[in-house]
Amino acid sequence: MLAGQVVVGWLSSSSFALMVLFGSLRPSAAYFGLTGSEPLTILPLTTEMEEAATKAHYKVCDRLKLEKKQRRMCRRDPGVAETLMEAISMSALECQYQFRFERWNCTLEGRYRASLLKRGFKETAFLYAISSAGLTHALAKACSAGRLERCTCDEAPDLENREAWQWGGCGDNLKYSNKFVKEFLGKKSSKDLRARVDFHNNLVGMKVIKAGVETTCKCHGVSGSCTVRTCWRQLSPFHEVGKQLKQKYESSLKVGSTTNEATGEAGDIPPPRRALGSSGPGTDPLPRTPDLVHLDDSPSFCLASRFSPGTAGRKCYKDKNCESMCCGRGHNTQSRVVTRPCQCQVRWCCYVECKQCTQREEVYTCKD
Ligand SMILES: *[C@@H]1O[C@H](CO)[C@@H](O)[C@H](O)[C@H]1NC(C)=O
Repeated sequence: MLAGQVVVGWLSSSSFALMVLFGSLRPSAAYFGLTGSEPLTILPLTTEMEEAATKAHYKVCDRLKLEKKQRRMCRRDPGVAETLMEAISMSALECQYQFRFERWNCTLEGRYRASLLKRGFKETAFLYAISSAGLTHALAKACSAGRLERCTCDEAPDLENREAWQWGGCGDNLKYSNKFVKEFLGKKSSKDLRARVDFHNNLVGMKVIKAGVETTCKCHGVSGSCTVRTCWRQLSPFHEVGKQLKQKYESSLKVGSTTNEATGEAGDIPPPRRALGSSGPGTDPLPRTPDLVHLDDSPSFCLASRFSPGTAGRKCYKDKNCESMCCGRGHNTQSRVVTRPCQCQVRWCCYVECKQCTQREEVYTCKD
């Protein structure tokens, strides 16, 4: 398996700074973030966009295709525009990461995303939750990083705690970001079941952020004696949030249906948030639940449809997910030789020395 070709490579440490980029994404209709109508082609943030964000953030706000109030909120501070962009990017990457082994791999390409948003699948629920979570997270961090004009570090929570230790440092400002996100995403509309489902799933995203807040402390004093501690509140890493939302996706509760035989096939026509007749499940209240909720059973995502490109040609992992990923169509096996850096060691000072290892690898892809 292992060929013995060995080369010593000299890698400067800066070459480890990788930019994660993702493919071309196209526009659709609805809300914000992955559920919004902004063309995701504006991502990822290029230097050109970053310049635009500081110089003329109005342009960024316009390109985000926001609703009237959202646009006003975006325009009032260059930091907000930048944070909105960051939130979308973060949510998109996390969604694709969480679904990398699934049939639906969080394809965000315009028409697929638009079709998904018209329906109330578990996947749709996830998109709402990860979008609001991403925005809440990015804003709270932006506050503590000093990138927003209207907020700063999280304040000391209560006086009792302040006596026990010194409340200091700069906490992530969840209070401000929650307030902002609630205003930005709008109030609950009562009649329309789909709107209530979306609203609920947005809240689930925000609550997962809140539940992940941890108090972090740092000791001061003679050799770690910790006579003085400073503490602040910190959000959990967004990967952790994504993981929890993925679990909630898996146990999502079905609370009704937007479709019948007729509309099920005509899913392109109804707008994303349509009112349901009073005889339908629209009159039932949503259960009070910390889970995600959805309305429609998901398609299999096996074959190309308006919801996904299907799994033909997708890479899978033998004895792990090929069976389910390929939907019983079987997989192709390809053998290839890969060369990659290995046995890397940091040498004083300041470079990394690696060998190049050549290895035979099997690649499995789903059959058409
Ligand atoms: C998702 O799968 C499709 C093929 O079905 C592929 O073209 C696309 O690059 C994948 N996207 C991501 C983000 O992995």
